[in-house]
Amino acid sequence: MIRVESLTKVFTAGVFKKRPVNVIDDVSFTISAGETLGLVGESGCGKSTLARVVLRLIPPSGGRIFFKDTEITKANPKELKKIRTKMQIIFQHPESALNPRMKIYNSLVEAMRLQQIANNRREEGAKVYQLIELVGLNEEHLERYPHELSGGQIQRVVLARILSLQPEFIVADEPTSMLDLSVQAQVLNLFKEIQHKFNIAYLFISHDLDVVRWMSDRIAVMYAGRIVEIGPVDKVRENPRHPYTSALVDAFFALKNSGIDKIPDPKADKLPAGCKFYPYCLKAGDICKKKPDLKKVAEDHFVACWQV
Ligand SMILES: Nc1ncnc2c1ncn2[C@@H]1O[C@H](COP(=O)(O)OP(=O)(O)O)[C@@H](O)[C@H]1O
Ligand SMILES: [Mg+2]
Repeated sequence: MIRVESLTKVFTAGVFKKRPVNVIDDVSFTISAGETLGLVGESGCGKSTLARVVLRLIPPSGGRIFFKDTEITKANPKELKKIRTKMQIIFQHPESALNPRMKIYNSLVEAMRLQQIANNRREEGAKVYQLIELVGLNEEHLERYPHELSGGQIQRVVLARILSLQPEFIVADEPTSMLDLSVQAQVLNLFKEIQHKFNIAYLFISHDLDVVRWMSDRIAVMYAGRIVEIGPVDKVRENPRHPYTSALVDAFFALKNSGIDKIPDPKADKLPAGCKFYPYCLKAGDICKKKPDLKKVAEDHFVACWQV
């Protein structure tokens, strides 16, 4: 469904002395129809940037992106418009996706009209009712404004709006991190239900390992703009091979117990050109000054580390 090859994104940083920063650095992965690839990494490692580049909301600096067999890095505006409805994104702050002055009904209808999904008003109405039930809400919610709904309900509406476009690929960028834990679980389950019903592929982004593990078939671990490990959920979590993944797993539990949910983020522009985890790694040796490529360590399981 999705194939990403050697993707890079360079931003310029610094006020007085401008210098380029590789926020996304040589990232490759694939996602099959109906599959969830979880993307986990600390705040600032480049997850949201990757999400936006993959959907071409911002242009990449290098590399290629394929949706099915179309290279979207080369697609013309007309092709891109057609593909765009099939690839959707859902953000951490769902309220920004809805017009605050529009009733939910109209927000849902608006999306369908833009894409000419329904043929007439009756068909439109029927579709809206179908959608709102699909995401576990009811008619009564359609007459409300966004501020009259809870965070979880808004995220459901946003999902309904996206589903009206019949997407085949959804990028979910920390979609539940603003929600209470109990609500979070319900919304995550809804994401799964919807996926099974429509065979949608997800790129599911979170800094929370538990969330990613619950949602994903495979996990990609990102550090300073690079994927350092990628593989089936259980292999990566139970048997992490990259020192950074181990640190992340350990730190996750340590921090969770201490009530803090974030590790201080590394400054991407101050890291070495070889293995970026080198300055922090207990296993590092001279060879780590060279950039490691992902290499296979087990079926479907790849690690970018010289010491493995
Ligand atoms: N438009 C931009 N210009 C310059 N730097 C940016 C821009 N957008 C993001 N960054 C930088 O890219 C890095 C990754 O950000 P982001 O993708 O939001 O990370 P994450 O989602 O993992 O927290 C950060 O250091 C951020 O400051
Ligand atoms: Mg982010």
